[in-house]
Amino acid sequence: MGDRPRVFVARRIPDDGLQPVSQACEAEIWPDELPPPRDVLLRSIAGCDGVLTLLTDRVDAEFFDAAGPQLKVVSNYAVGFDNIDIPEATRRKVPVGNTPGVLTDTTADLAFALLMAAGRRVAEGDRYVRQGRWKTWGPMLLLGHDVHGSTLGIVGFGRIGQALARRASGFGMQILYHDVNRLPPEVEEPLSATFVPLDELLARSDFVSLHVNLTPDTEHLMNAERLRQMKPTGVLVNTSRGPVVDHDALFEALRDGVIFAAGLDVTEPEPLPPSHPLLTLDSCLVVPHIASASRATRGKMAEMAAANLLAGVRGERLPTPVNPEVYERG
Ligand code: DGY
Repeated sequence: MGDRPRVFVARRIPDDGLQPVSQACEAEIWPDELPPPRDVLLRSIAGCDGVLTLLTDRVDAEFFDAAGPQLKVVSNYAVGFDNIDIPEATRRKVPVGNTPGVLTDTTADLAFALLMAAGRRVAEGDRYVRQGRWKTWGPMLLLGHDVHGSTLGIVGFGRIGQALARRASGFGMQILYHDVNRLPPEVEEPLSATFVPLDELLARSDFVSLHVNLTPDTEHLMNAERLRQMKPTGVLVNTSRGPVVDHDALFEALRDGVIFAAGLDVTEPEPLPPSHPLLTLDSCLVVPHIASASRATRGKMAEMAAANLLAGVRGERLPTPVNPEVYERG
């Protein structure tokens, strides 16, 4: 018992991950729906060999100090890792794991669902019916914009951006993309995707979908000026991270008809308070950060997060490390 590694798991995750962790480790699992309060998290990780975190847990110098120098791994139950100070982890030689790949298609499915729902006013139509406002078939009722045959601009053309392009090609959409670098023809050609500067992408696209990591460079990437570059019929979709969009600017753009609609899976802050101005607008569709929320995908994410945690506490290389440089420095 005393030989088993000690780990803290910051929320109940699917059994696909909890079971192997509980079998191999002395595991404390935070049981609540809400994340552990900061002071409880810091107390709970003291002396642990490994910690399984969620995107709601901030992992920084204070976290590493509280855990102690024996900490061997932080395994994040997410592909994104903007909640973790990676340079700090690397400085302390703590490998950090994430869950890339398994949520690509599930996230792209939701991005496409938001794109269609915002463009065709699906959530607004549902509210209209529930509110008893549906009186007859109307020639002008809830008119939206066609998805088929339109132009999709994908900002950030990594795994998820490319998976969205595959879906869009089935709808006969023209695909534009922007990324820090142009991708090789082996990536572009099968997707019929054209690299363009961001300004041009915003001006030409009917739908703009964001798939960038949150970094100081991408924070408020979609600000008032960039929103103005979009078409007045344009639809913005965000399944990346909330702070990539300036929400005050988005509110004004939607209110003033600068763009047509937005579909958001991620917001700033999260959760978005019910009193937030964006929620007064029918043209803004918001869901609660559920892009990877299919049973199968959350199970696979749990398996991967457990595999990273267990490899880390055993002193083995993580299957999917975010900071592989911890191994290179010896
Ligand atoms: C992630 O993994 O980064 C998503 O935001 C949640 O699945």
